[in-house]
Amino acid sequence: MSQNLLKKERDPSILILDFGSQYSELIARRIRETNVFSLVVSNLIGIQDIQDINPQGIVLSGGPNSVYEENAPTCDEQIFRLGIPILGICYGMQLMVKELGGTVTRAKNKGEYGRAPITIDSQSDLLSEVKDQSIMWMSHGDSIVKLPHGFLKIAHTENTLHAAISHQEKKLFGVQFHPEVIHSEFGMTIIKNFVYSIANCNPDWTTEKFLEEAIPRIRDQVGSKKVLLALSGGVDSSTLAFLLYKAIGNKLTCMFIDQGFMRKGEPEFLMKFFDKKFHIKVEYINARERFLSKLKGVTDPELKRKIIGGEFIKVFEEESNRLGPFQYLAQGTLYPDVIESAGTNIDPNTGERIAVKIKSHHNVGGLPKDLQFKLVEPLRKLFKDEVRELGKNLGLPDEIIKRHPFPGPGLAIRILGEVSLEKLNCLRDADWIVRDEIKKAGLYNDIWQAFAVLLPVKTVGVMGDKRTYSWPIVLRCVSSEDGMTADWSRIPYEILERISNRIVNEVTEVNRVVFDITSKPPGTIEWE
Ligand code: XMP
Repeated sequence: MSQNLLKKERDPSILILDFGSQYSELIARRIRETNVFSLVVSNLIGIQDIQDINPQGIVLSGGPNSVYEENAPTCDEQIFRLGIPILGICYGMQLMVKELGGTVTRAKNKGEYGRAPITIDSQSDLLSEVKDQSIMWMSHGDSIVKLPHGFLKIAHTENTLHAAISHQEKKLFGVQFHPEVIHSEFGMTIIKNFVYSIANCNPDWTTEKFLEEAIPRIRDQVGSKKVLLALSGGVDSSTLAFLLYKAIGNKLTCMFIDQGFMRKGEPEFLMKFFDKKFHIKVEYINARERFLSKLKGVTDPELKRKIIGGEFIKVFEEESNRLGPFQYLAQGTLYPDVIESAGTNIDPNTGERIAVKIKSHHNVGGLPKDLQFKLVEPLRKLFKDEVRELGKNLGLPDEIIKRHPFPGPGLAIRILGEVSLEKLNCLRDADWIVRDEIKKAGLYNDIWQAFAVLLPVKTVGVMGDKRTYSWPIVLRCVSSEDGMTADWSRIPYEILERISNRIVNEVTEVNRVVFDITSKPPGTIEWE
């Protein structure tokens, strides 16, 4: 990316060097929770780059390796001499110890995993306000046996002699446990101690500040050009629409492609809300028949997704040609997408990211290469929680902000087997009842997702004196932190009963409701 573009963006106050930990992103999130801006960077970042960024603190993440392994990840050892406060977590601490002349070995007792009470050995800025014997989350096979010169052991556990260490003068600290993990009782206290007391960061990463910085930057980037945004109705694209509208007004055109797989009332709500209430220009594209006819006879879930994705590109292309030309495409890319997709295409002349792939929730597997939009991605440094905060600040209603995740291909992947209009209407009605009852019971915001799935088999039932032969509906309700793992929600029997009764009574094509009690893994959240 060009230096010009980088300069306009805020530099992180805390830089997290990633040594391959599954928690690196989580560390960044926790630090952001303290209103301090942090970014994850490669462990190989050069010393000059660090000096250019000039962070107030550095965190060395954990990692799966052993510091003495061949090819174990390292960092430029000069970082320990920059005078910037450093917190090493697990592998990060061991690396710091090794680089500064201490010794790390494989723990005799095969390490320590899970919860462990720590005993505090001496006062330190890092462990200030941390209660003795509090539980911390451990996950390590190696241990420190000899500290480098000038370091002090400040806490231990039953199996780990050096659970926390410090070099107060040089502001170098290390913890063997994971303060970022929710199970670590005083984890946030330690993170706050590091960012506020040790690194002297100001809590200046707020939504208001973000807006103050983002709006002029968007105006700067876009100039007088036209921007196209594919609106899906989810929180990311909706927040983005509001943000862009605030920044560039009518230079923004939103396109809402109705594939016919949305939930009951959603397209109408979306149009009423954006267009009528906020006067944000939304082009409504009714492509329902087009998508449905493409899915005729298709039963394979992957093929279904592919066809929907391909058709979306075609409609998108046709419509953007009709409405355009547009120079910019706005995308609701978030920070986790950026961390996870290291390989991005950068225009060498301008340093801007070029669209080669639209996020999957817009149903697009990849735009053709000749569609050379430049990208506007003002949310790409934000986590989902921060986007929700921003959306709220910009005036989006709870209905959008707290909306359960909804897959891009929509109800088409919640109808197993062939999709038909009859099945879609049936599922839409059942899905509406599920959400209605979950909301009425006050459970909507505690549940990650609650939805209905239609199975393409018929089962026998009896209603009145009549035998029925209709489809079953699966009720899927899960709790989750991020969709990666999930547990089935323990919905009270009375609510399950109400949902089942209402679906069977009100949706004529359905005569049976079953409840999915599978966690993820081994199950997935969607049925496809
Ligand atoms: P699975 O079924 O893999 O789903 O356990 C994990 C989460 O991802 C959502 N999901 C999607 N989200 N576009 C999206 O934006 C998609 O194509 C898509 N497919 C699944 C799913 O609803 C769950 O929250």
